[in-house]
Amino acid sequence: MELTDQKENAENRAPRNIAVIGASGSIGLNALDVIASSRGRLRAGVLTVNRSVSKLVELARRFKPDVIVVADSAVDRSPLTDVPIGTDVLFGSDSIDEVVRRPDIDIVLLSIVGVAGLRVAWNAIDAGQTLALANKEALVAGGSLLMDLLEDRGGKLYPVDSEHSAIFQCLLSRRRAGTTPCIVGRDVERLILTASGGPFRTWSLAQLKNVTVKDALKHPTWNMGSKITIDSASMMNKALEIVEARWLFGLDSERIQVAIHPQSLIHSMVEFVDGAVLAQLSPPDMRLPIQFALDETARLPGSARKFDWKQAFSLDLYPPDFERFPALELGFEVAKNGGSSGVVLNAANEVAVEAFLNNRLIRTTLKELPPYPAFLN
Ligand SMILES: NC(=O)c1ccc[n+]([C@@H]2O[C@H](COP(=O)([O-])OP(=O)(O)OC[C@H]3O[C@@H](n4cnc5c(N)ncnc54)[C@H](OP(=O)(O)O)[C@@H]3O)[C@@H](O)[C@H]2O)c1
Repeated sequence: MELTDQKENAENRAPRNIAVIGASGSIGLNALDVIASSRGRLRAGVLTVNRSVSKLVELARRFKPDVIVVADSAVDRSPLTDVPIGTDVLFGSDSIDEVVRRPDIDIVLLSIVGVAGLRVAWNAIDAGQTLALANKEALVAGGSLLMDLLEDRGGKLYPVDSEHSAIFQCLLSRRRAGTTPCIVGRDVERLILTASGGPFRTWSLAQLKNVTVKDALKHPTWNMGSKITIDSASMMNKALEIVEARWLFGLDSERIQVAIHPQSLIHSMVEFVDGAVLAQLSPPDMRLPIQFALDETARLPGSARKFDWKQAFSLDLYPPDFERFPALELGFEVAKNGGSSGVVLNAANEVAVEAFLNNRLIRTTLKELPPYPAFLN
């Protein structure tokens, strides 16, 4: 399909029905902003949360979805009396698995946090749905299984993570507008994932021993949920993205690199075998990669911020420091080893981040650790 046809189709067809899985989160709310600004191209047919019932009711009153789901059945249900007529209410994680399979859903936007996303991704792909994937933990823990299932069921997958969307956009520029997400380019030399470096980019090893939760939650360029913000501070986020890129684009870990780019304007790059490098640039705003996925690669006006070309700006790029940010090495190791190593890395990280956020993670060095994770209690 030519790009112009695709654009006209996106503008003229009936609204695409979107299931926003994780509607109360940072990505979910940005996605709802994209839907609200889409001039009728997109509609929210399903909204889900884990426990944020009041927020869900507020969103249901605004977007009038067909169904809403609260994953945690034990929550206080009293706010649900204000759900608009015509919106069904379901409870439990199983109901999320069910709604992503609904035939009236055109695109499942998976924006819940953590490995809970794995089974949702599995169900959506298994049902042959088009999946817009923000949740990176699903690919880290189950990338091999999910990509095999995707191939088998013949569905489509659009990356939403800004780095992977950037790479996808650069790769698409080499092709006629297509939708295949996993492009193993004979022409591609390497993928370069950019990283802001997070709040501790310039901190010394000595300073890093005294970081607080408050320090770690102050991301310099992105406003995101707490788990990914902590992951960005430790650069575990980039480690997870290395694994994510490995599965999405089918390239060996040796052909993936990381570049520190404090301004977060270049969202990632592709180097081709002739030495040419293509990059995707835009202000740091998740609404752009979300819209690109929900519009299935059509370029249409939206609500994402744009550059002010009257302002001077600079682009710095430099290699990462593996000594101060050892998590990065783990990403390369897991991308190389595959198997169940992604499950182990992801599980250890999710437990550690939760413990850190709750001030239960004691500062120590690897040499001081007991043999079992009793230090997390
Ligand atoms: N934020 C970003 O800019 C960004 C960028 C790139 C990639 N990502 C990825 O996108 C995912 C979401 O990130 P986020 O920052 O949007 O997270 P977030 O703000 O913490 O939102 C998480 C959403 O998932 C729901 N949720 C949490 N646990 C759940 C469970 N067990 N079952 C069902 N729903 C659950 C939450 O509902 P409640 O409100 O009820 O808890 C909320 O709606 C993560 O994998 C992250 O790495 C995020």
